[in-house]
Amino acid sequence: MATISNQKLWLITTSTMILLILQSSNGATVGSRRVPAMFVFGDSLVDVGNDNFLNSSAKANYYPYGCDFQGGRPTGRFTNGETLVDMLGRLLGIPYLPAFADPSTIRARVLNGVNYASAAAGILDETGQHYGERYSLSKQVLNFENTILRLRLLMNGTSLDKYLAKSIAILVFGSNDYINNYLMPSLYHSTQKYNPPDFANFLLNRYTYQILALRSLGLRKFVLAGVGPLGCTPYQRASCQAPAGRCVDNVNKMLGTFNDGLKSLVNRLNSNHPDATFVYCNTYGVFGDILKKPATYVEHLKDCTYVISAGFSVVDRGCCRIQNQGQITCLPFLAPCLNRSQYVFFDAYHPTAVATAIVAWRVFSGSPSDAYPINVQQMSLI
Ligand SMILES: *[C@@H]1O[C@H](CO)[C@@H](O)[C@H](O)[C@H]1NC(C)=O
Ligand SMILES: *[C@@H]1O[C@H](CO)[C@@H](O)[C@H](O)[C@H]1NC(C)=O
Ligand SMILES: *[C@@H]1O[C@H](CO)[C@@H](O)[C@H](O)[C@H]1NC(C)=O
Repeated sequence: MATISNQKLWLITTSTMILLILQSSNGATVGSRRVPAMFVFGDSLVDVGNDNFLNSSAKANYYPYGCDFQGGRPTGRFTNGETLVDMLGRLLGIPYLPAFADPSTIRARVLNGVNYASAAAGILDETGQHYGERYSLSKQVLNFENTILRLRLLMNGTSLDKYLAKSIAILVFGSNDYINNYLMPSLYHSTQKYNPPDFANFLLNRYTYQILALRSLGLRKFVLAGVGPLGCTPYQRASCQAPAGRCVDNVNKMLGTFNDGLKSLVNRLNSNHPDATFVYCNTYGVFGDILKKPATYVEHLKDCTYVISAGFSVVDRGCCRIQNQGQITCLPFLAPCLNRSQYVFFDAYHPTAVATAIVAWRVFSGSPSDAYPINVQQMSLI
């Protein structure tokens, strides 16, 4: 039975959905939709249940995860409600995507796109291995090839080419290559030979290789999310490196190098591949802004049609209960905080749905400082 505040949040979410759908509809319906499908590659920020089917200790298939999702349903999403890609899909008129690893993701169920994202996964194959099985970026690309085989059974070559070229690929990678690899020197030796700028370049080289592999498989529209200010997550704030609960600046600085490089990569890819469009999302900037002036987000949210009673008031700890320092995920079956719309983080690492909604809206409709050089809405019209 939902508490009153659960119901309130659910109502807010529902009315937002309706408003956003109305705003984005342009009379589009399935079939004539401008963006026929979305293919999602990434980590726990956008996993919608793949790791449920893997031998992984990085799972979110239990309460309180999903407590605001479709009236309270744990699905493997690492947050209380929708993920970033659920929201972007909704703005584009695309239903929730199925997880690749789910055995029921077969036949026509792949037509709206597929989500390959896997908690603990990184650009590098070994990233996150201490959590057990996961689909690394290279495995996710192989899984996408498998989907193409299935799609070939559903449409002819000409239609498939057109379908893939109009679809949007979203890639959310990099965080785990830092927190579950480079910043864990005792477990991950092979990356320690790099200094931070060289490590960022190493990641970006590998990333480029796989992005171009996806392009050669037929995708033409790419949304590449930068890494958020990981040094400010409750997980990092609780680490011994953090000065009394403050952000860990040297971690954020490393990510700055990666993000700057990713933005340059987007420029390079756009000029080298005029038949394709690449967009960089400044998730670092948007989250950084929320963390800097959390209370002011009342107005911003109203602008974005999300209606929240008060700005964010808790930025330095997660909404759910965590076992101990160094742990990321919620303790199973314990009630989360009541005012979830006042928290930026749901657990020690993943943002709440409301904080994510700000990012989704800015990536969809924001200025070039949020989504560069164009936003997802503009991309959908190409
Ligand atoms: C799952 O992974 C653990 C540790 O990586 C291993 O010990 C165990 O045998 C695996 N279980 C299965 C069913 O593969
Ligand atoms: C492919 O399928 C489309 C849509 O069903 C159809 O219009 C087109 O004629 C087909 N092309 C070929 C070469 O069969
Ligand atoms: C939740 O937020 C409301 C309104 O901002 C406040 O009155 C209430 O004390 C908060 N409850 C908790 C448990 O923080």
